[in-house]
Order: sequence, then C-alpha cells, then structure tokens
Amino acid sequence: MAIRRIALSTGGGDAPGLNAVIRAAVLTALGRGWEVYGVRKGYGGLLGEEPIERLEQASVRGITHIGGTILGTTNRGNPFEWPVRQQPDGPVALVDRSDEVLANFRRHGLDALIAIGGDGSLQIARRLFEKGLPVVGVPKTIDNDLASTQMTFGFDTAVQTAADAIGKLHSTAESHERVMVVEVMGRHAGWIALHAGVAATADVILIPEIPYDLEKVCAKIDQRYRAGRRFAIVVAAEGAVPLEGAPAYSEVAGPGREARYGGIAERLAREISERTGHESRSLVLGHLQRGGSPSAFDRIIALRFGAAAVRCVAEGHFGTMVALKPPEVRAVPLEDAVRHIKRVPLDSDTILTARELGTSFGD
Ligand code: F6P
Repeated sequence: MAIRRIALSTGGGDAPGLNAVIRAAVLTALGRGWEVYGVRKGYGGLLGEEPIERLEQASVRGITHIGGTILGTTNRGNPFEWPVRQQPDGPVALVDRSDEVLANFRRHGLDALIAIGGDGSLQIARRLFEKGLPVVGVPKTIDNDLASTQMTFGFDTAVQTAADAIGKLHSTAESHERVMVVEVMGRHAGWIALHAGVAATADVILIPEIPYDLEKVCAKIDQRYRAGRRFAIVVAAEGAVPLEGAPAYSEVAGPGREARYGGIAERLAREISERTGHESRSLVLGHLQRGGSPSAFDRIIALRFGAAAVRCVAEGHFGTMVALKPPEVRAVPLEDAVRHIKRVPLDSDTILTARELGTSFGD
C-alpha cells in the first residue's frame, strides 16, 4: 500500500528525547513526500477530545535538544478504558472507545500511526493493531523497563540527573554526619536507582527486584559509621519493597489510573534514624528526572528511532516496535515488547560490580 499520510502520538509520562523522535520522524516522512499529522495528548486527538495538527518542517525546527513533547501527553488516556462520569457527582465508569479511534483514523485518511510510548501506551498500540490499526511503536520511558530493546530513550538523561543530585548530597551528608535517603523513579524496575546509585557511589541501593531487610540496611550504615565514615547515602527506587510489608503508595489506584508510588524515602529515613540513632533526611527527586534537555546519547537513539519507525511504515512492518539491538536499531514484534516488564536481572554484572565495591542491596 502506498503511504500518503501518517500520524504521530506521544503517550504516557514524558521523557527527554520525545521531541527528537518527532523531529526525525517528521523530516524523514516529509522527505518521502508524505503528509504528517500530530495527534495531541496520547490518543486523545483520535477521540476528538484534542486536535490533530499538520506537522511541517517548521513545526519541528530546533526541538532536538528540548525536553518534553510538542504534542503533549497523558497517562490517563486509555481508549479501551476511557473514564466517563454519567452524572456530575456520580461514579466514574470506564468505557471502551477504541472503535472511535479506528473510525477517526480512517476519517482523517491516515495510513499509519507511529505511537511513541512506554509500557502502557504500547499495550494500547498493540490492542489497536489487533483491531486493524496500522501502527509502529517507539519505546520511551525514563524507567528503561520495556522488554525487547536494550534501552529506551530518556533513561540516560534521567540517570545523569539522578547521579548529579546524589553526588551533591555527599558533602552535606558528611558535614552533618547524616544518612541521606534519596527516592528515584522506578515502580517495577530499579534501573535508575541501580545506575545512578552505582555511578554516584551510594552505600545502599534498594530496587523492587531485591526485597530489602531493614536490619541489613541499618547494619551496613552502622558499619560505615564505626569505620569512621560517619555518613551514608541510600538510594531507593520508588517501588522498593521490604521483605515483609508493602511498597509505599501516595495514591491508591482508581478507575482508569494506576496507584502512584511515593514515600519510601521518608519511611526509610524515619526507620533508619529510629533503629541506628543516626540523624537521617530524605528527598524525592520525582519529576526532575523526566525534565531537561536530553543527553547526547538519548538524542541519538531518539533520532534513530524516529527515522527507523518511518522506514518500518514504508516497508509495511506494522505491529512492530523499533528497538535498540546494538549496533543496530531494528523492528521487533510489539507483542514481545509489552509481554512483560524488563526488570534488572539479579545476576547482572552491574549488580555484581556494586556488591564487589561494597554496596548493600539490603539483602
Ligand atoms: O513511567 C515513568 C514514571 O516516571 C514512573 O517511574 C513514575 O512512577 C510515574 O512515571 C509518575 O508519573 P506521573 O506522576 O506523571 O503520573
């Protein structure tokens, strides 16, 4: 089928590099003589909730290095589970509006959708593909937890931001002889905590993949103080979980939205100070990790992903996701990419290295 008109959408939490993908995809598609449209706010534009706008060369000028997404995004826009309130104060019901997505896609005369998203948005893309939407996915998330790709864009920048912040805590921790507990993003996978923690020489790294024992965390901290290093840095992924007990949530799940994680650093700082007697402070890096200009590495993979996605469309490789398989970027089945979350392998050499350098994982 000859392609004439394609659309791009960005869904889920934003990540540095989204604009670079958009620029590469738009310029590559325009170069082939295609028309390109931007679907605003996830799939919202294909539900008539948001506009669909024509993207020209001028629309993507000078955006490679800019964080965020010019298309806007949302992590509450699942067309299969669209929240609708029937009465002003009534309960929220979830409605399947996926048929409308397909109908609007055809009404706009579109031939393909490039969906740039994380696990949630690409799950939706896979389901829309099964219903007949010609879609190619691009893997995005600072959490780096998408399977089938060595890395997602946004991760490198987030790790750099987190490592810089953790690095800055060393001097204040040492001056005050305190334990500093830093909470980083990562609900189901501890990639950011592990990489930023190792790079910034944290003493304890807690990740969802390794349930922690508070006794062991405190023993490691005590051992440092006794050895004369009278401060400690603890890095915890937001989804870190104690051996006995539950992760820390800041908001329970509701119709059409997942539970929000948050509070593990505060909880740990309190528990550590109660058990060890060492003064402790906590901080949450939060959305700082999603902001700022993408690193050169993220820009390069984002640009490569954008151009590769257009090549997939041209070759009719739908139901795929472009993936980093060093040294190449190539298409993999979307289905494989979203089947399971990519968690940190417990035998990864990064974990082994950290252990050999004396870092505790609380186990
Ligand atoms: O998926 C990326 C992520 O940054 C998670 O690590 C985090 O829990 C979540 O997004 C927070 O998203 P938001 O605050 O935008 O709902």
